[in-house]
Amino acid sequence: MRNPFRPTFGASPYHWAGRSVVLEEFARGLDGYPGEPSRSMVIDGARGIGKTVLLTELEDIAAQHGWIVLRATGREDSVRTLIDTTIPAKIAELAPPAGRAVTAVQFSGFRVDTELLDVPSPTPTLGTRMRDLLGLLRGTGVLITVDEVQDADPDNLSEIALTHQDLIRDEQHVALVMAGLTHGINRLLDLPGTTFLRRARRFELGPLTDDDARAIITATAAKGKPIDADAADLAVEIARGYPYLVQLVGYLAWNRAGSRITRADVEAVCAEAVQTMGSQVHAPSLKGVPPAQMAYLRAMADLIGDAADVSSSDVAERVGKKPNEATDTRGKLLDRGLIEAPAWGRVSFTLPYLAEFLRSDNRTTRVS
Ligand SMILES: Nc1ncnc2c1ncn2[C@@H]1O[C@H](COP(=O)(O)OP(=O)(O)O)[C@@H](O)[C@H]1O
Ligand SMILES: [Mg+2]
Repeated sequence: MRNPFRPTFGASPYHWAGRSVVLEEFARGLDGYPGEPSRSMVIDGARGIGKTVLLTELEDIAAQHGWIVLRATGREDSVRTLIDTTIPAKIAELAPPAGRAVTAVQFSGFRVDTELLDVPSPTPTLGTRMRDLLGLLRGTGVLITVDEVQDADPDNLSEIALTHQDLIRDEQHVALVMAGLTHGINRLLDLPGTTFLRRARRFELGPLTDDDARAIITATAAKGKPIDADAADLAVEIARGYPYLVQLVGYLAWNRAGSRITRADVEAVCAEAVQTMGSQVHAPSLKGVPPAQMAYLRAMADLIGDAADVSSSDVAERVGKKPNEATDTRGKLLDRGLIEAPAWGRVSFTLPYLAEFLRSDNRTTRVS
């Protein structure tokens, strides 16, 4: 029997739970008018919190509304890909070129070719391409999603944002949803060309509620190896609402279990789940964090123990600074989305088990 849990980044879960505010608002936005605020969304949050799969859900909703979906990612030259590949492919789908007629023209001799050379065709831009596509639609629109915007070239993002704004001004049915790590999103919203996106609906994804986590575990396990209630309770406790962990704990427990998942199964996989979290989430999240910020994080980890948060002036003292001297470092870590300020003068870690990871001195098990 195939394991139905999917602890894989970007892989849509077998059972979905949570984020209903975003889903409902987006669906309402599609039913609305051009320029509806919820047709422009920015989604941010930590690695593994569920940004990519939420984008996929929004794409599904758009498709159900009859909208065309164009998917882009900050990991490549998104504007070029949209202009050269993604949009032409959609246009060809909607209005297949008359192949024979074009071939006939191409064979009709030199004269035509020379004339064509004399009249250069305008270089397509994202705006002209989008208008070509929108011109083929009646009563529906086009959604562009951009994932991993933290890796994107700022010029690309500005161009997408400006084109989107331009099309809205012309009463076109367009929607734009961008998703990425908190740090990258904050940087994006500071770009000159993206001022407009500051008015977009912004959703910061936090942990799922325990009820949602329990619903995911129970419904997914029910696919073949039902989970005992006390086992589900423990899995929920271990996962701390973090979607990647929900899938991971479920996945490991399923593999270990007989015909049903027991509390002993969940207990047995807890350490492995947290360790995998270290290599898949903690280590990459800390990549590129400068030494002063790392020192701040380590001090936090030492002081926080098993508590939920810690006093920021205690942390400052621990790194040998006056509270106001550490403010800058603290601000940068908040901006990176690695820490949060749950109350005045208090700081906490955004990612579950990051304190444990830092205290273990980033030791991950290396398997060659
Ligand atoms: N709402 C949800 N319900 C069930 N599983 C989810 C949900 N959100 C995320 N997941 C699971 O969590 C993991 C991480 O999701 P992903 O979208 O890749 O995170 P991100 O893009 O933020 O790094 C995936 O295994 C995904 O299936
Ligand atoms: Mg992702």
